[in-house]
Amino acid sequence: MIDLRSDTVTKPDEEMREAARTADVGDDVYEEDPTVADLEARAAERLGFEDALFFPTGTMANQVAARVHTERGQEVLADRQSHVVKYELGGLAQHSGLQLRTYDAERGVPSPEAVAEGYVAEDLHRPGTGLLCLENTHNARGGLAIEPERIAAAAEAAHERDVPVHLDGARVFNAAAALEVPVAELTDPVDSVMCSLSKGLGAPIGSLLAGSEAFVERARRTRKLFGGGMRQVGIVAAPALRALENADSLERDHEKASRLAAGLREIDGLAVQEPETNIVLVDVSETGLDVETILADWRERDVLATAFGPTTIRLVTHRDVADDDVEPALERIEASLSP
Ligand SMILES: Cc1ncc(COP(=O)(O)O)c(C=O)c1O
Repeated sequence: MIDLRSDTVTKPDEEMREAARTADVGDDVYEEDPTVADLEARAAERLGFEDALFFPTGTMANQVAARVHTERGQEVLADRQSHVVKYELGGLAQHSGLQLRTYDAERGVPSPEAVAEGYVAEDLHRPGTGLLCLENTHNARGGLAIEPERIAAAAEAAHERDVPVHLDGARVFNAAAALEVPVAELTDPVDSVMCSLSKGLGAPIGSLLAGSEAFVERARRTRKLFGGGMRQVGIVAAPALRALENADSLERDHEKASRLAAGLREIDGLAVQEPETNIVLVDVSETGLDVETILADWRERDVLATAFGPTTIRLVTHRDVADDDVEPALERIEASLSP
């Protein structure tokens, strides 16, 4: 089976399993787990923040970040296609009483003018904008690696209005690898960042939320409130520490995605967006077939991908797709779509 549904399907390697087995642990709610402390310190340093906090999921980290940055009833400015808008079950409203003001911007990042347009000043009638939320890489827009200047310009426009900025950087290390910049250059303009270790980096579980010391202190309390205070979680942080070391090898996944896209483009009926990282979006309208029918046939041929809209399929490369899995995947897809 060649599983191209997501980079979240990566399984822990032997080193990670061994790290989990031998991890030094303690009760992390008492802040006594040395492995978690080590992971948080290293991640904070790498991401360029004072402190970081370990979370079971990226979703929880994004939700806690929004809660800490805002007050109930405020508006969150976010891209219409972003994960917090599309895939977190309306959590901003459910958990924190926030409402969304969405925009639709090139590469998912608002221009300074768009920030000004979306901003709502607090007054007797209006709740005010409490947060700008950006995403890098941008998943639903095809794994776009958002350039540091674009993030900096949007963040500056928000900060001019005293609006903090959170970055959903679930795949921010992919962005850094693709743009060939240190990850801290992408996170420097924002006030907090979530980054996942359980996607392309290959950890079985875990995301980090980084920010100032004061922000992380409040996030720790909010994480507890959301049920995310964990005990001997060093057993999970140990493989996550290994995963952090994989950040430097993501370029290989991007190269596989680029070969995959080039091959798919040769197949009749497929319109392929040029990948910037490890995500390939394919529009299948011209095949005359519906997405579910196509995916069911690929599954029969041992290739898995994800439905990503009425006419779009998403394929994601990752550590558990071998370099030489790309050609067989392409052959099977071509055979599936040949008349
Ligand atoms: C951009 C983005 N943000 C957040 C998340 C949520 O991460 P998790 O599945 O760990 O909750 C995902 C998951 O795929 C994602 O792609």
